[in-house]
Amino acid sequence: MNAGLEQIKQEIISGAEEIRSSKEAYEFRKKFLDGKTGKIGLLMREMKNIPPEQRADYGKGVNELKEWALEFLVELDTRIKAKELQERYEAEKIDISLPAVETQQGNLHPITLIRNQLIDIFAGMGFEIYEGTEIETDYYNFTALNTPQDHPARDMQDTFYLSPEFLLRTQTSAGQIHVMENKKPPIKILSPGKVFRSDDDATHSPMFTQMEGLVVDKGITLCDLQGMLDVFVKKIYGEDTKTRLRPSYFPFTEPSVEVDCSCFECGGKGCKLCKGTGWIEILGAGIVNNKVLENCGIDPDEYSGFAFGIGIERTAMLKYGINNIKLLFESDLRVLKQIND
Ligand code: PHE
Repeated sequence: MNAGLEQIKQEIISGAEEIRSSKEAYEFRKKFLDGKTGKIGLLMREMKNIPPEQRADYGKGVNELKEWALEFLVELDTRIKAKELQERYEAEKIDISLPAVETQQGNLHPITLIRNQLIDIFAGMGFEIYEGTEIETDYYNFTALNTPQDHPARDMQDTFYLSPEFLLRTQTSAGQIHVMENKKPPIKILSPGKVFRSDDDATHSPMFTQMEGLVVDKGITLCDLQGMLDVFVKKIYGEDTKTRLRPSYFPFTEPSVEVDCSCFECGGKGCKLCKGTGWIEILGAGIVNNKVLENCGIDPDEYSGFAFGIGIERTAMLKYGINNIKLLFESDLRVLKQIND
């Protein structure tokens, strides 16, 4: 082979060793094989300077060199690309042995859980939700509920007054009046919300949550109340739970009752939770006092109703075995995490 061709071949072989990337391989290939400027391409143009008798040999040599170079450089390109791919794989490799980043799952607050459960149960019995306001007038919170200014029952609820007329409602019962003023029977409402009383110990908090129920229609009796509460306690505390009514007093209901359910912890035998009695007090209720119906323009000769008020914190404390109401308001995640229905 012509010495010039041999020299180019050596140049390709030794130059290939320096190639590190596919971009360099591309440039390197162009340097030799580009038709116009590549070293092998230019060799063909030299033909005219070669003596005629050597031209055939020279042409053959150039063609052989070109074919060899093509194959050699394709192989170089393939090898470099494979190496590059391998390096990329290495760089992007995911270490699956690393522990996963822990995500904290939240859960609903016990008050919200109970509130939602109660709403579900009563909505299933056809109750509509009415949300009253936390600031009320003295009239709606007391007077209209048959608790006039000088009534001794006002002492039962230590009230936060904002002015002589306005106060923070002490009971969701205030909502009963708004509903009955605006809607004629049949009425079946459930009114959840915050209430406020100046009271503070292990089982009382100045702010707590109640859920009021009110049903007014023709021929409503205490039996309807107990029947409905039976369904309610079975759903919330378990199928074997029973209810009993004890006489009580609220100015806005007559007769008034305190509702107990059989202790869901011991089944009625007597334990720490029910203080050995087998029964647990769960809510206050009664037949809507005729005076309250009259205050709202409803004829007590035609209609009657029952009302009940459930303390949501109390229900949550009983259901989840919480012994201090403060635990429900301190937002200590160690406590709240344990309560997840
Ligand atoms: N409002 C009463 C309370 O807060 C509870 C209650 C509601 C009683 C409805 C009877 C009827 O103690």
